[in-house]
Amino acid sequence: MSTGCVLVAAGSGTRLAAGSPKAFVVLDGRPLLVHAAERVLRSGVCQHLVLVVPDGRQDESTALVSGLAGAEGVVLRAVAGGADRRSSVAAGLAALPADVDVVLVHDAARCLTPPEQVAEVERAVRTGAAAVVPGVPVSDTVRAVDVEGVPRGGPIDRTSLRLVQTPQGFRREVIERAHALASEHGLPAALAATDDASLAELLGAPVTVVPGREEAFKVTRPLDLALATAVLAQERAAGATS
Ligand code: CTP
Ligand code: MG
Repeated sequence: MSTGCVLVAAGSGTRLAAGSPKAFVVLDGRPLLVHAAERVLRSGVCQHLVLVVPDGRQDESTALVSGLAGAEGVVLRAVAGGADRRSSVAAGLAALPADVDVVLVHDAARCLTPPEQVAEVERAVRTGAAAVVPGVPVSDTVRAVDVEGVPRGGPIDRTSLRLVQTPQGFRREVIERAHALASEHGLPAALAATDDASLAELLGAPVTVVPGREEAFKVTRPLDLALATAVLAQERAAGATS
């Protein structure tokens, strides 16, 4: 029995608009994909790592990741992604060998996710949870509005809300059944494209929320790259003093 991580990195990065697919945008001298993979490897919990990348970039991606610390003893594969996130996840799942029983699905765009978060999600599945997501509290006031922007209902009680991050962890049969169901019957695009745990929930699998971390934010827009640069500088400063 082993743990496999599907690292999805095949998106185009339209909102970042950096001129190349987002996972290959360079942050502090290295592509986002490399930052993300390094932190997954440093968690020490994965025996298999599947990189899901734009078609044609498989060899380059394997070469970038294979030399990283923590890659020894980890079986690395790279496969081509699909047109949306869900099909990219499905391509990654299909590349996992039979002995993998716990699957982590992680966004390369959450490139600074601490290794501890990866390990905590994995442990929660190993110790019995069917589906696990990290979540962080919402700090802004949230309002629902109509198409004209007019508020509908009062402010939403944010104490009960969580922003969901990755990696999301699953018993393998749960994530595979969820994806099979989604491709057979189709699902609303917004749900199908962004969140694997919601798919699992449709099957009736209970989802466990564990505390996430601010550093696991997703690089989506240009300002997020500035934040990522600052987080790396802070990490380096903390490393220099510890
Ligand atoms: N992803 C993927 N395949 C797709 C779409 C997305 O592997 N067809 C991955 C992205 O590479 C990213 C993660 O899913 O790591 C989260 O997606 P998102 O942040 O939306 O990235 P992009 O789709 O690349 O960005 P955008 O939506 O702005 O184009
Ligand atoms: Mg996208």
